[in-house]
Amino acid sequence: MTDRNATDVTTDVRTHASPAPAAAGVPAGPEPSSPLPYMAQNGSPVATIATLGQFEGQSVRLRGWLYNLRESGKLVFPIFRDGTGTVQGVAHVKGIPAEVFNTLKGLTQESSVIVTGKVRADQRAPGGYELDVEDVEVIQRVPESDPYPISLKDHGVDFLMEHRHLWVRSPRQSAILRIRAEIMRAAAEYFDQNGFIRTDPPILTPAACEGTSTLFPVDYFGDPAFLTQSGQLYIESTALALGKVYSFGPTFRAEKSKTRRHLTEFWMIEPEVAYCDLDGLLALAENFLSHIVQSVLKNRSPELAVIGRDRAKLEAILPPFPRLRYDDAVEMLNQAHKDGHLEQKFEYGNDFGSPDETWLSSQFDRPVMVNRYPADVKAFYMEPDPIDPRLALCVDVLAPEGYGEIIGGSQRVSSYELLSARIEQHKLPRQAFEWYLDLRRYGSVPHSGFGMGIERAVAWICGLDHVRETIPFARTLHRIYP
Ligand code: 4AD
Ligand code: MG
Repeated sequence: MTDRNATDVTTDVRTHASPAPAAAGVPAGPEPSSPLPYMAQNGSPVATIATLGQFEGQSVRLRGWLYNLRESGKLVFPIFRDGTGTVQGVAHVKGIPAEVFNTLKGLTQESSVIVTGKVRADQRAPGGYELDVEDVEVIQRVPESDPYPISLKDHGVDFLMEHRHLWVRSPRQSAILRIRAEIMRAAAEYFDQNGFIRTDPPILTPAACEGTSTLFPVDYFGDPAFLTQSGQLYIESTALALGKVYSFGPTFRAEKSKTRRHLTEFWMIEPEVAYCDLDGLLALAENFLSHIVQSVLKNRSPELAVIGRDRAKLEAILPPFPRLRYDDAVEMLNQAHKDGHLEQKFEYGNDFGSPDETWLSSQFDRPVMVNRYPADVKAFYMEPDPIDPRLALCVDVLAPEGYGEIIGGSQRVSSYELLSARIEQHKLPRQAFEWYLDLRRYGSVPHSGFGMGIERAVAWICGLDHVRETIPFARTLHRIYP
């Protein structure tokens, strides 16, 4: 047992073996099947907690941190975490050298350690295995005088958000971030496997896409510019070049709303398809969402267990999804008001408020696709319904269990004259939209697309109360630290 610093660990890894060559694609699935060929000096292979099952009966080295420690007389039970999971170690005073036992006994929470131990199957253990500890190397010991600030007792959310840089280490928060990564991977995979080309739009833009009231201004060498609210306008251009495209990146809204659904910086994935109408878009949305949810079920099972998510609710997410016209949704809301389920009476012609969306989405066991809202409450670029031009050919997909809108999309105005008039009506700066009008001057076609906010999707799939836990560092009305 030795005390070493982190630099030595890096050296150790490099001198013993070079990492496996990177595979062409990101591996699908929970963990690469083997963390080898890293070998420790004493011959024990370096394992990760998620892959312990491959090493049953063998000694392995785990590189991680002390999550918690229980002591009971002659026994200590350190719980280790390494980013892939947690595992309980067991050490008996008589089973290991006295100095190893004493090091373990006084170990402080979140000290970094490389622990050697024998993997033993145990049905009662959450991951199915325990570690009979043989040796421990302390890489950095957290001093008693300045202990890790997040203890295992309950802290308020404000305290945890203030310590978000450490809070992400908790098993629950790590599990959520792993599920988030899988949602992003599966979302991109769906488009990659279905003939879409990724074309990312600029983040610095000269004009609004989703209304001028939520723009973040930037000084662009003396000229005004804004952080993008959506890549849509730009991917309409690349869709007319490439047919089926998508973009995936950060988007910004200077939202003054302080709700559990709003961030000022969030990630959006947006497909855009030439020669696609609203019906085609609805089919795309339901297949896309099902693929994501089924991928999470398949590849992030242990993480769903850590956060206690009800799998049955997710297993139901298969096509077809219900389609509901705005008019019919309004009738449901009126009925709910009559029956005393909703406080406020809904006024026909408005956009839905949070309580309305919550009610509507809790009436279905899969996402409901609300379509054909009044054009007046929706964006300038939406194509009117030819059967009733007061309505827009648009859709909001509301996630079940009361989660509300996770996707917004529409068929786009394809006529030059109409788009030009809309830009005027909405008092948008025409010059900034000349290039966008070009898309209707030269080979305009019916085309459609949508945007899904990753954090809303993560909140729903993980069953979380608030979007602040769905992103590594949330940006909200009152928070830009850490
Ligand atoms: O409905 P939105 O505003 O639609 C658009 O931006 C379209 N231009 C997208 C398109 O058609 N390509 O936003 C799309 C989605 C919402 O359904 C929601 O999931 C998410 O983006 N979103 C937010 N997520 C977190 N915080 C906010 N402030 C959000 N605003 C929108
Ligand atoms: Mg919307």
